Amino acid sequence: MKSHLFRSLVIWVVLVAAISCQPEKKKRVLHFPKTDLSKLALIPKPLKVISTEDGFALDRFTAIYTSETATGFADVAGFLAEKIKAKTNLDVPVNRAEASDQQGIIYINQSDAPELDALEAYQLYITPDSVILNSNSAVGAFRGVQTLRQIISETSNDTLADYKIWTIPTGKITDSPSFEYRGSMLDVARHFFSVEDVKKYIDLLAYYKYNVLHLHLSDDQGWRIEIKSWPKLTEVGGSTEVGGAAGGFYTQEDYKDIVRYAAKHHMMIVPEIDMPGHTNAASASYPILNGNGKTPKLYEGTEVGFSTFDTRKDTVYAFIDDVVREISSISPGPYFHIGGDESHVTKKNDYIYFVEKVEKIVQKYGKRMIGWDEVATADIDSTSISQFWASKENADLSIQKGMKVIMSPAKKAYLDMQYDTLSKHGLHWAAYIPVDTAYIWTPEEYEGIPIENILGVEAPLWSETISNIDELEYLAFPRAIGYSELSWTPKENRDWESYKVRLANQAPFLDRMDVKYYPSPLIDWKKSKYTYEEIQKD
Ligand code: ACM
Repeated sequence: MKSHLFRSLVIWVVLVAAISCQPEKKKRVLHFPKTDLSKLALIPKPLKVISTEDGFALDRFTAIYTSETATGFADVAGFLAEKIKAKTNLDVPVNRAEASDQQGIIYINQSDAPELDALEAYQLYITPDSVILNSNSAVGAFRGVQTLRQIISETSNDTLADYKIWTIPTGKITDSPSFEYRGSMLDVARHFFSVEDVKKYIDLLAYYKYNVLHLHLSDDQGWRIEIKSWPKLTEVGGSTEVGGAAGGFYTQEDYKDIVRYAAKHHMMIVPEIDMPGHTNAASASYPILNGNGKTPKLYEGTEVGFSTFDTRKDTVYAFIDDVVREISSISPGPYFHIGGDESHVTKKNDYIYFVEKVEKIVQKYGKRMIGWDEVATADIDSTSISQFWASKENADLSIQKGMKVIMSPAKKAYLDMQYDTLSKHGLHWAAYIPVDTAYIWTPEEYEGIPIENILGVEAPLWSETISNIDELEYLAFPRAIGYSELSWTPKENRDWESYKVRLANQAPFLDRMDVKYYPSPLIDWKKSKYTYEEIQKD
């Protein structure tokens, strides 16, 4: 640790010396309006914020530097520069010693200080001269960069100097997440979403410090990922979607592109192949897989629970082996999601036999199995993970087996539930979930599931009623923003009254990102491109 500190100190001294030796530098003395760092609209709310009520000027004199040898730090700095450019149009140099004229430095520093031990932890020290972002790892630095993006004023201050300045209030932020798994799921099976749509969703989730995007890649209505050894899955099973439009699928190159894009945002993709139910598209492609006794035909409706694989056929497991192998080889994350929900026409014994066999296949390819809470009815390993969506009984079984649980109770966390009876999209079989209900619950204590068993929170977005990015955004935003706080910020620091003011202040960011969010009338939006009435009209 000492050598790290020493090296950082040396770099720092050299930088400061280089800057102060520049001959024509006119020291700027700026008198910032007092802005309290702790009053900014940060989401998720950081653990600790101390304000010193001065300002750092982000302007054409600012430069970014990083610890030289720290893996991934230069990429994080490049990401920050890209986002500063998008927000302010400033070209901020990264690690360019020769960049002249710098007066303010953003320094992204690798530190192994003990208070930064937690994965994804970071600290921000902001003074009038510098912004120092400390973290142990690139992922922590990346989360800190999201905070910094939120801190940079949305508009420039044009009265402080004769050039544009974006103000950054000074102080110190110490932060790390409560839960290691902070996810959203996107159902690309009921309706297909393009790679570009998925990337935009990743952009937005990453800004709120999500680290998981779970892709629901197969269902009765569509198979969405190329499997080279079983080509008809996409040729046939990928050719339609709910409502009868053309569907679509990701080639393995597309999928790798999504995985890489997520990795750039320090997010992982969790691939899901839903089985043994929700498999009509697979069986329509290869009828040998089918186990419900009917001739499978492509399906464009929204019923659930009618399809099943034949769980007693070796071919089915040879098929699953190929699918898990091909997808796992292009999914660097540790998880493979096997679905397992609503297998209403699979006999109970067959279901249990199936889940136990598929768990072994997933493990053979080096992954940990995740399944919807029904999988806990099988005799599975404590290393497998159960995603609690409906059944407290199944959640309890998971806990008895020592498994970790992902909290996605449909009544609270399903992004496809309508806000209220006037919602243009969504369903309401579990509940109506207005923006306050989505936020005011406690995953740490929900249904008595012990916190030690909770891996994190995930907000699933099913797509029976949405077919394009605008509709996706209507359901996901603003509620996904609240789920980020439920999974990052400890319950003691959460409070609806504070949150709703901070949420209101997300409008300029969402507008700039061209997000067609639902401007809930419960929120006094700061200034919004669209009114509630405009969004609600057809
Ligand atoms: C589910 O909503 N069927 C997991």
